[in-house]
Amino acid sequence: MSGLIPQNFINDLIESADIVEIIGSRLELKKAGRNFQGLCPFHNEKTPSFSVSPEKQFFHCFGCKESGTALTFLMKYENLDFVEAIEALAKHLGRDLPRERGRRESAPEQTRELLALEAAVQIFKDNLRNSKDAISYLKNRGISGEIARDFGLGYALDEWQHLSSKLEKNGFSVQVLINCGLITTNDRGRHYDRFRGRVTFPIRNIRGKTIGFGGRILRDGAPKYLNSPETKLFSKSNEVYGLFEARRGNQRLDRLILVEGYMDVIALAQHGIRNSVATLGTAVGEDHFRRMYRYSNEIVCCFDGDAAGRSAAFRALEAALPFLDEKKRIHFIFLPDGEDPDSFVNSNGYDRFKELVESSTPGFEYLFSSLGANLDLSLLDDKVALAGLARPLIDRVNSKLARDVLLARLGELTGLDVTKPAPQVGPKQIQVKRDFSQPVQKLSERLAGMLIRRPELLKLLSIQDREAFVALRNESDLLCKVEVIVSRDPDLLSEELISRWPDVGDLDKIVAMANVDELLDKEEQEVQFSEGVSRWLDLRIENAEIEKLKQRINDGTEEKNSK
Ligand code: GTP
Ligand code: MN
Repeated sequence: MSGLIPQNFINDLIESADIVEIIGSRLELKKAGRNFQGLCPFHNEKTPSFSVSPEKQFFHCFGCKESGTALTFLMKYENLDFVEAIEALAKHLGRDLPRERGRRESAPEQTRELLALEAAVQIFKDNLRNSKDAISYLKNRGISGEIARDFGLGYALDEWQHLSSKLEKNGFSVQVLINCGLITTNDRGRHYDRFRGRVTFPIRNIRGKTIGFGGRILRDGAPKYLNSPETKLFSKSNEVYGLFEARRGNQRLDRLILVEGYMDVIALAQHGIRNSVATLGTAVGEDHFRRMYRYSNEIVCCFDGDAAGRSAAFRALEAALPFLDEKKRIHFIFLPDGEDPDSFVNSNGYDRFKELVESSTPGFEYLFSSLGANLDLSLLDDKVALAGLARPLIDRVNSKLARDVLLARLGELTGLDVTKPAPQVGPKQIQVKRDFSQPVQKLSERLAGMLIRRPELLKLLSIQDREAFVALRNESDLLCKVEVIVSRDPDLLSEELISRWPDVGDLDKIVAMANVDELLDKEEQEVQFSEGVSRWLDLRIENAEIEKLKQRINDGTEEKNSK
């Protein structure tokens, strides 16, 4: 199957499918006012907080915050990717899938890349089955066949072109194999397998599709670990290893344990701790936390007890601060010197590790205790120092409630008047970051302006982002309105867009925006647009959930009042 599914066909499918029917045929739904309610399939619950709106054609869970259209429901519930979900929806409605020849090559190509990675998983697994060395390596590290299977472990033979020749025979082009990071080329243009003589760990995205690999050398040697390079499918600053596997074990993740290495995740799973994830050889950053907090409210970070571990923990805390609130928490575990979770759980067992988790240090406590560690708070000067250190960190927290509590605590410790607004402190970098949290509306208008001036930018968006827009079809944000028109014809010119604008009310504004001089060069616009849209959609979803929650609380009180 090849070619793009035309966007208007997708829109049409989504508009014709009835979300209540799609979900109702899979779960028990009861009518509740204008909506339908049921037990949420995405987390464990006894009382229904999963709501389906036939008017908005949208589902939302007030418990775990999952939400989306019929299409996203199918993707999540049946573990399908976008194209598979479209196919399922088309089948359900008895429609044939039309395919158009791709004006944009990247979509079918990415599918080829995913297929190549999946084929590589199979080849590596076969290799493992037939390699005594690799099997005994894993056995010696205490890994059972069951865990090896759950994590899709494999083995890359110590040969230069074993994988590539197999995949090429299966019809994968060298370019596809390069694109997905499975092979590399040398200066003379010869290509060879990236992973050789290594145990392989498939890195899966949240839907279980392999997007890259890690590989550990069997014996001593350098580098000990090799990871896939950054590709269109795989970004180290976003992905965490083990999230799919953790979710598969338990849709409701009360807690995620963040560790440093592949083998830590695997060893913990081997001991029955199935909720750990690892960054991929990089320090944990804001994007990792954004990803993890989508699926769990509590993240327990596991670090070495030495100085390096403590400073890494502090940096992790800084990166997590924006997300923390009355629900989302971070905790820290410090392991004895020289131990990692793998060695610790192997020598001390499940119960001892569990004890560490249960007695982990809460993040805000850790914030004040480490900032105050070398200060004497009976001294005025040290109070000033503490206030100076803590204030910019507290400002990073997005939750007003959490910020207020932290400022109050800082006030207790230093006598600082917490009612005064924060002074402008901190390096320029922090100020740049603040820009990201500018009001949703402003960001939306900036993006709308870019799209009005260059409608073809829409084609750069990921399939997920384009699909997210479908759910926002009737919203009144300028960006949504522009998107509706451009999505019908992404090759539209700016002038044509204006001529098709449906709303006289804001036509002047659109014309004015079309005439703004763009200061960024083309490439920079492209980066800012696609990143900006993803960020805006994230903010948008969060805001929508808050609004719905408020609405629900209001509805609840009205009902009570009328009784
Ligand atoms: P084992 O020795 O197998 O127990 O490994 P470990 O998990 O204890 O590894 P370590 O703490 O040394 O590294 C943690 C993580 O850092 C690994 O899972 C890799 O993702 C990454 N890493 C470690 N060594 C290398 C390396 O040499 N190169 C690269 N690119 N990444 C590495
Ligand atoms: Mn280790």
